[in-house]
Amino acid sequence: MTADIAPFYAIEISRLAHALKDQGRSIIHMEFGQPSTGAPKAAIEQAHRILDSDGMGYWESTPLKARLAKHYLDSYGVSVDPERFILTCGASPALVLALSAGFQPGARIALARPGYVAYRNVLKALNMVPVEIPCGPEVRFQLTAEALSTLDPAPDGVIIASPANPTGTVIWPDELKAIAEVCRVRGIRILSDEIYHGLTYEAPARSLLEYAPDAWVVSSFSKYFSMVGWRLGWCLAPERQIAAARAYVGNLFLTAPSLSQHAGLIALDSRSELDGHVETYRRNRRLLLDALPQLGLSRIAPPDGAFYIYADIGHLTDDSLSFCKALLNDTGVCTAPGIDFDPVEGHHFIRFSFAVSTAEVEDAITRMVPWFKARTN
Ligand SMILES: Cc1ncc(COP(=O)(O)O)c(C=O)c1O
Repeated sequence: MTADIAPFYAIEISRLAHALKDQGRSIIHMEFGQPSTGAPKAAIEQAHRILDSDGMGYWESTPLKARLAKHYLDSYGVSVDPERFILTCGASPALVLALSAGFQPGARIALARPGYVAYRNVLKALNMVPVEIPCGPEVRFQLTAEALSTLDPAPDGVIIASPANPTGTVIWPDELKAIAEVCRVRGIRILSDEIYHGLTYEAPARSLLEYAPDAWVVSSFSKYFSMVGWRLGWCLAPERQIAAARAYVGNLFLTAPSLSQHAGLIALDSRSELDGHVETYRRNRRLLLDALPQLGLSRIAPPDGAFYIYADIGHLTDDSLSFCKALLNDTGVCTAPGIDFDPVEGHHFIRFSFAVSTAEVEDAITRMVPWFKARTN
């Protein structure tokens, strides 16, 4: 029997937005967490050079794995054997790989609700059981050590995401440490999705590896590195499971694109350009946070990272999908409905992505203020 997989509604809304654009409408795309900035210049130049000289066979870049190991040492102070890195076509296959190689069908995996839409659906596709923990504004929409310590029975695994999608909230180091300790004591294996690392506005995000050396970690070049379409990411397998993970990747995915691996190596040394994008997001975040009261939206958890604001619109609707469609139709501002991230409470939430230009954020605010005001009164 096939798993019952829910659609990604933001894709449906995005399709509508493109249809409107084709009719000549001006659209501001705030529905996806997709940087509009493109890969770092030096990475693109390298890709041009490589195209003329490389045969593009199946390949796993040893220099890239070594450079990633250095990145973990520099950023988190953790020493990782480069052989623990498995290069993938983004965090999406890394997630499938980590779950397939690290857990058995039927495994019960805890995760925060709201959370990234694919967690729930990939777990179902792999015949695993999502154990969703409702996480409200009082815990900044994040899992806590306390929630994990009281789950009965203990789950087999847990997915941690910090910063998280759709809220951008971070789990601070003391709590991460406490989560790692509860999981060690209760035998819960951790899968940490660190795709939004590099995109933080207070303090840098910490890796779960600092507190749980045998955690599975997935990450990607899609967000901070601004290389979504290059499809490059990695899975860091626990020492004992590297062989299993390699067996899976060889059969499920083979290798990541050669061209992207060459470019990714250069992107890792393009920090000043990439940090410039973070400054844009910081400005965008401030502008949106300052504008929310004018939209009548007060129930949010300010994002510590990523490029999202997840806002409660329960006073305006209990149908976030229709709400997002109406907002798009009337103003051209395209957003994601909360039901993508939370099938229970998401009917009264909306997610704004501010991974667009500052001018677009300003324009979106100008369009949205009168629209929200008209609905609030
Ligand atoms: C939390 C999270 N994990 C994983 C992904 C998958 O990203 P990719 O496959 O582009 O690396 C996304 C994409 O938005 C995400 O938000």
